[in-house]
Amino acid sequence: MKIKIQANKIFKEPDQSKCRYVVMKGSAGSGKSVDTAQHYILRLMKDKGRNLLCVRKVDVTNRDSTFAELQGAIFRMFGDKWERYWRINQSNMIMECRSNNNQIIFRGMKDDNQRERLKSITFKRGKLTDVWIEEATELMQSDFEIIDDRLRGVLPPGQFYQIRMTFNPVSASHWIKAQFFDRKDPDVFTHSSTYRENRFIDEGYYRRMERRKEVDPEGYRIYGLGEWGETGGLILHNYVVEDFNISPERFDYMVNAQDFGFNHADCLLEVGFKDDEIYICREMYEYEKDTDELIDIANDRGFRKHLRMWCDSAKIPVWHLTLLMLETP
Ligand SMILES: Nc1ncnc2c1ncn2[C@@H]1O[C@H](COP(=O)(O)OP(=O)(O)OP(=O)(O)O)[C@@H](O)[C@H]1O
Ligand SMILES: [Mg+2]
Repeated sequence: MKIKIQANKIFKEPDQSKCRYVVMKGSAGSGKSVDTAQHYILRLMKDKGRNLLCVRKVDVTNRDSTFAELQGAIFRMFGDKWERYWRINQSNMIMECRSNNNQIIFRGMKDDNQRERLKSITFKRGKLTDVWIEEATELMQSDFEIIDDRLRGVLPPGQFYQIRMTFNPVSASHWIKAQFFDRKDPDVFTHSSTYRENRFIDEGYYRRMERRKEVDPEGYRIYGLGEWGETGGLILHNYVVEDFNISPERFDYMVNAQDFGFNHADCLLEVGFKDDEIYICREMYEYEKDTDELIDIANDRGFRKHLRMWCDSAKIPVWHLTLLMLETP
């Protein structure tokens, strides 16, 4: 059977790479996710004995990202005949290639519970050979090591293990840059792409990016040019990202802190203080949202409403502050 796909040339090399680590940074809309989904559907149909695990930091976000992309790729490739080739279990989120029983499953790394579920994965046929970590910058290095550790054991001749990471290069101080981009390693294939190399992007998106270049140059650098976010101008260097206990009893005191924004992001943090250390327990960083939307997001994330909220007072529209106070009991 000949399968027809529409692809962007820029992804030919990463799609062909057999390196253990294929690390793909890119601007927003460069085509990484669509390409990756198409690539895995083809690979799993072609090579019997391969199985794919898709990882997001928070497992439920797989449904609207990796799962939706892979399903979309299957529909585009086979149209209304897709069921001849794939079984898709919507509720359990398992995909299976009918001809060879290769499978795709989805997991998260949000907490120990999710990490344990990831360690105990088994497949109907063959081993776990492929991992797609989508929005990989969400993961801590320790999460990545757990995943990497899963790919071991002798494979049949011609088979290989591979982890593909796709992400926007949010910060030059990220562990992914240090581990994969700043060292020479024959097991690593690094790749960069921008929306300009995506032939399927529309004119409106180009204009949106041009606008962003003016109103948010740092964001444009990351999400438009696909370049690592600056560290030069960074004020804080001495911090670590890790899991920790966020229950209020363990802190000397806690506050919420907000810096208002619309074109620049609105930022809200739930902050705990303990022995002169600062702990960011929850965060929200949202562009182009009005107050009602921000309150909904903050509620969904479980921000504690009884805490005192400190706000950056520069240029606050009075209505904005008033609304927030009204909503905070
Ligand atoms: N091979 C393709 N065939 C058809 N459309 C495509 C293809 N690749 C990309 N596109 C179009 O380009 C859009 C952006 O692609 P995609 O979502 O893969 O970008 P991305 O690099 O993952 O962006 P982000 O960093 O924001 O997640 C898609 O929504 C789709 O409309
Ligand atoms: Mg994407």
